[in-house]
Amino acid sequence: MSFRIQPAPPARPNRCQLFGPGSRPAIFEKMAGSAADVINLDLEDSVAPSDKDSARANIIQAIGDIDWGKKTLSVRINGLDTPYWYRDVVDLLEQASERIDQIMIPKVGCAGDIYAVDALVTAVERAKGRSKPIKFEVIIESAAGIAHVEEIAAASPRLEAMSLGAADFAASMGMSTTGIGGTQENYYMLHEGAKHWSDPWHWAQAAIVAACRTHGVLPVDGPFGDFSDDEGFRAQALRSATLGMVGKWAIHPKQVTLANEVFTPSDKAVSEAREILAAMDAAKAKGEGATVYKGRLVDIASIKQAEVIVKQAELIAAG
Ligand code: COA
Ligand code: MG
Repeated sequence: MSFRIQPAPPARPNRCQLFGPGSRPAIFEKMAGSAADVINLDLEDSVAPSDKDSARANIIQAIGDIDWGKKTLSVRINGLDTPYWYRDVVDLLEQASERIDQIMIPKVGCAGDIYAVDALVTAVERAKGRSKPIKFEVIIESAAGIAHVEEIAAASPRLEAMSLGAADFAASMGMSTTGIGGTQENYYMLHEGAKHWSDPWHWAQAAIVAACRTHGVLPVDGPFGDFSDDEGFRAQALRSATLGMVGKWAIHPKQVTLANEVFTPSDKAVSEAREILAAMDAAKAKGEGATVYKGRLVDIASIKQAEVIVKQAELIAAG
């Protein structure tokens, strides 16, 4: 039991984050025209070492030149274990227009990683007199990241979102798979001779959701690599949404619609939630804390569950 009220996460839609390599400026306009809530221009692992400088320049120019509408505009910098990351931060904050909203820090392993980037960002912002503080998002994609997930979620008031990066996570954990998210052939329970698939990503997702909800950060599911498998993407996204995640990455434009569908509460879910709220209003008017809705118990906790769905729908409608 805690007397502290759980902090609300940032009130903005984050159903889909569309990625594109900074070395491929030809797709930037297409990304801006997509239905994704968040755009992630990448300087990290989709950009070859020889292209890092030109990708940085492409992104800085595009931040100012392209009409990104109401989207949250984020740039994924290189990891703190590379020689590139400080130049990413310094050049972005010295040269990019104030349209940039966020920096995504990959492969975070401890709160100190966020502190280091925060110190550099804060210094450059002051030096350049930038008026709009940059927000952060991070990727949990290593054994250290998941082991320290709670201190990472609490590391900076700049932090708005946290994603699970399945591929690097699997590699760091020594998991025996080359898949990026989704069902893993060898991860099953056997019951009376029949295989029942389990979800090897579940515990990491649940740990991220708990850390994020404790500290008012948006929990997000990362990439699903097989972009020809719509059903596989949908199944993974539905599990993430059920666990409390608010959105998922798209690494190909065709995944944007799928993510938006899953992470937008359906009309049926919203009307049912409103009916539960109405049923509880009627119960409260009669001095009752619990009542029956469609043959099942609803009580004060049901109000909070229903409000999650209604508030999410209102947020998306307003965006
Ligand atoms: N955002 C917006 N548009 C994109 C896009 C993206 N990430 N990726 C491809 N497109 C466009 C293509 O330009 C093409 O447009 P057109 O119909 O006008 O010609 C269309 O979508 C279909 O593209 P397709 O031919 O199926 O894909 P591709 O071979 O050009 O690219 C990938 C495939 C996977 C290499 C590319 O989607 C990509 O780079 N994705 C992001 C990778 C990334 O950022 N990874 C880091 C995070 S894990
Ligand atoms: Mg990664």
